[in-house]
Amino acid sequence: MIGYVIYGRGSFNQLDEILKSNRKGDEPMIFLVDHFFEGKELAKRVPAKGKDKVIFVDVTYEPKTSYVDSIANQLKEEFGTVSGIIGIGGGSSMDLAKAVSLMMNNPGSSADYQGWDLVKKAGVYKVGIPTLSGTGAEVSRTTVLTGPTKKLGMNSDFTPFDQIVLDPELTANAPANQRFYTGMDCYIHCIESLNGTYLNEFSKSYGDKALQLCRDVYVNKDDWDEVSDDKLMMASYAGGMSIAYSQVGVAHAVSYGLSYLLGTKHGIGNCIVFDHLEEFYPEGVKEFKYMVEKNQIDIPKNICANLTDQEFDKMIDVSMGMKPLWENALGKDWEKQMNRERLRKLYERL
Ligand SMILES: NC(=O)c1ccc[n+]([C@@H]2O[C@H](COP(=O)([O-])OP(=O)(O)OC[C@H]3O[C@@H](n4cnc5c(N)ncnc54)[C@H](O)[C@@H]3O)[C@@H](O)[C@H]2O)c1
Ligand SMILES: [Fe+2]
Repeated sequence: MIGYVIYGRGSFNQLDEILKSNRKGDEPMIFLVDHFFEGKELAKRVPAKGKDKVIFVDVTYEPKTSYVDSIANQLKEEFGTVSGIIGIGGGSSMDLAKAVSLMMNNPGSSADYQGWDLVKKAGVYKVGIPTLSGTGAEVSRTTVLTGPTKKLGMNSDFTPFDQIVLDPELTANAPANQRFYTGMDCYIHCIESLNGTYLNEFSKSYGDKALQLCRDVYVNKDDWDEVSDDKLMMASYAGGMSIAYSQVGVAHAVSYGLSYLLGTKHGIGNCIVFDHLEEFYPEGVKEFKYMVEKNQIDIPKNICANLTDQEFDKMIDVSMGMKPLWENALGKDWEKQMNRERLRKLYERL
């Protein structure tokens, strides 16, 4: 669980005060800010002082272990140790901040920790401030990284943030397409969690709430306004809490393969896959198609049209490796239901 949560319009203004009691002598706070904000108003509001450093992180590609290692090594060389890491941006920046914090106190490469419960030491103090709503990365116990051999998170009890600042004002000007893709990540988390075999009352309570908030925004409302930003930020939080005690499912397992081979981004990749998952989530996919139409969003098609057998095999390897996701979706005997041939046919349809 996150140690401290603040929510509300304008709560970003409290950041300076929040950081004050967490500073260790003159060791700096390091702000990892999504490069989209370079030169923008938000960057000027970052309360950096003394030896503090603002690093604009490149999220053109989703975070790689090599990028995490290079930032952590650079900080260790320059400062030895730091007071904390503050991530400001979308899910990619959240994940970078979590991973860099952990790598400040754990030896080796972040690639050594891709998996479940491999991280042995707490990282430095870390704060997450989302500027897009949907991934749930602000609450989750993982940080998704692409490494030399796999795309897999550093899932551990040390991974969640110590503090998050949920200020819906920060998401106000996100482009409609991006907002939809990231928002749908949350919707899909809910459908996968609520229809999964790992479901329990904890996950269900949060999943039901998150799903209702997503529907308020994408089904029941006709315009985008402040209320939409407020609701989607809480949907992301509750959706993240829901999967914290369950798992995601087929859409994520398949989209991880796309992302590994083609670099397809998480939100859009999930949408591309979910559009074809009627056989697994009939009601969710029906509602999803309605939301796509109502919000006039384009979902790319035929992205696997020109792939070779070898490339399909690589995606299938990555996807079949996501065992907990398949088990959550299809049950303990999932391997009887999902095999390489069925998965290949699914990839061919995307
Ligand atoms: N740790 C987890 O639990 C978890 C869960 C789901 C997804 N993820 C990760 O999250 C990432 C996806 O995150 P995302 O969908 O939030 O997108 P993102 O962070 O990759 O950002 C997408 C784009 O939006 C831009 N952007 C960010 N905030 C903006 C704003 N307010 N206005 C305009 N542009 C803005 C970014 O610069 C970038 O170009 C993936 O790397 C995925 O693996 C992590
Ligand atoms: Fe996701």
